[in-house]
Amino acid sequence: MPAILVGVTILWICAKNVATACHDDESFDCPRANTLFGICNNVDEAKKICPNFCGICPVDGQWANWSDWTSCDVTCDQGKHTRTRTCTNPEPKNNGSDCVGVANEYKRCDREPCPDGEWSAWEQWAPCPVTCGFGVTSRDRKCNNPAPSLLGQQCDGDNKDWGSCFRRNCPINNCLDIRNAMTGAPSGVYTISTPVTRTFIQVYCDMDTAGGGWTIKGINPEHNREDVALVVFQRRFNGSLDFYKNFQDYEDGFGSVDGEHWLGLRNVYELTTVGTNDLRIDVMCFNGSKAFEVYSDFLVGQGSNYTLHLGARTRNNETSGNVTMDDSSFGENDMAFSAKDKDMDNYVRSCAASYHGGWWYNNCVTKNLNGLYSSDSSLQSIFDYSYNYPGRIPLQETKMMFRRVLV
Ligand SMILES: *[C@@H]1O[C@H](CO)[C@@H](O)[C@H](O)[C@H]1NC(C)=O
Ligand SMILES: *[C@@H]1O[C@H](CO)[C@@H](O)[C@H](O)[C@H]1NC(C)=O
Ligand SMILES: *[C@@H]1O[C@H](CO)[C@@H](O)[C@H](O)[C@H]1NC(C)=O
Ligand SMILES: *[C@@H]1O[C@H](CO)[C@@H](O)[C@H](O)[C@H]1NC(C)=O
Ligand SMILES: *[C@@H]1O[C@H](CO)[C@@H](O)[C@H](O)[C@H]1NC(C)=O
Ligand SMILES: *[C@@H]1O[C@H](CO)[C@@H](O)[C@H](O)[C@H]1NC(C)=O
Ligand SMILES: *[C@@H]1O[C@H](CO)[C@@H](O)[C@H](O)[C@H]1NC(C)=O
Repeated sequence: MPAILVGVTILWICAKNVATACHDDESFDCPRANTLFGICNNVDEAKKICPNFCGICPVDGQWANWSDWTSCDVTCDQGKHTRTRTCTNPEPKNNGSDCVGVANEYKRCDREPCPDGEWSAWEQWAPCPVTCGFGVTSRDRKCNNPAPSLLGQQCDGDNKDWGSCFRRNCPINNCLDIRNAMTGAPSGVYTISTPVTRTFIQVYCDMDTAGGGWTIKGINPEHNREDVALVVFQRRFNGSLDFYKNFQDYEDGFGSVDGEHWLGLRNVYELTTVGTNDLRIDVMCFNGSKAFEVYSDFLVGQGSNYTLHLGARTRNNETSGNVTMDDSSFGENDMAFSAKDKDMDNYVRSCAASYHGGWWYNNCVTKNLNGLYSSDSSLQSIFDYSYNYPGRIPLQETKMMFRRVLV
């Protein structure tokens, strides 16, 4: 049974693709049947009995003529012409077969190659992004001379060019500048330039003390930075250097920066003109106990007085310390500098002579850090009043330094 069904279907399909001879049932009087029963109104009946009479013979579709070729669809490179035809001559009707074949045909056309993009000239270099030293800058160019056509190639290469730029030598006039220029720079002697007279000098940079806990929390956020670098301007540790000197010596500095030394008032004045600086003083008693304190806004005025300016004490006796430094204010604040040959103090006699040093003596001193190096608790010794009042405790080591506070 299925075999027969398949056969019938194939027969029917094939029949459809052959122009059908459309005959009426010869034994049937179509005109009369239509008059009597309107058979042509019933399409199915009409197809079976009187297709010819009722005008519903299958009509196979035939192609109409091809249209003309279209013009080429591109203005450059390779494109195509197209022509079309429709199955309308005639259209298939009454189950007649569709046209066989394609409705569209294409023909290749070749035009000139499409123009590629070309670079315009490089634009200006962007401004150097650093204020001093080397930076990285860039310049651009555009693929618009000409821009590539729709199918043309983009310009070959980069539209950005990188280069280094150099503005001027960065001033190095603080240990912080050294630290910034050289990450991880260790403590030691460095050459820096003074910002006013632009003189090259050697200083000892303490790059380690910050790690000893010198972060001042809760007072000013900028003090929380750990990566500080300090310029040491006074250092004593074994008494090899005599500090009982004339004013000129204190102005110029003495000693060797990698040992005991005084950096010089002129240098300290110049170096503290840049930015805001904290003063830090570290001391150690002869019994090994240590202490330190920090003052904000440290500044030494211009010569010839080199007046000391100090802000508030922001910290003392921190983690490294186990003795307390003087709790009173720095009594020498706002004093001019005195030495044995220049008396600027408020004392009837010379503090410098009485206390055997050079200092911003007032009437006379709370911290005699440039005094006589001696383990005796004499008036002339290096001391801090906190230890000596009522008894003087001499100091074995002192270190005075300042750091630029970042803003
Ligand atoms: C179709 O094409 C034939 C042969 O080119 C032409 O004789 C005939 O006139 C065309 N018919 C029409 C409708 O253009
Ligand atoms: C085409 O033929 C099929 C099968 O014989 C039929 O069902 C259908 O109604 C026909 N369609 C037309 C438009 O005659
Ligand atoms: C003090 O220290 C320096 C440098 O470390 C050394 O050259 C000198 O001999 C020492 N002097 C005394 C008296 O210990
Ligand atoms: C060292 O001397 C200071 C000052 O007199 C004193 O406060 C401290 O306790 C002493 N430290 C030791 C370990 O004796
Ligand atoms: C130095 O200090 C003295 C005394 O206070 C004062 O008279 C003088 O004007 C000061 N000199 C300078 C340059 O500030
Ligand atoms: C003082 O501090 C130092 C370092 O922080 C420590 O080694 C020493 O033991 C301390 N001395 C006293 C008496 O607390
Ligand atoms: C300083 O340190 C000593 C010993 O640790 C402590 O007793 C004292 O309270 C501290 N002083 C200040 C002002 O922090």
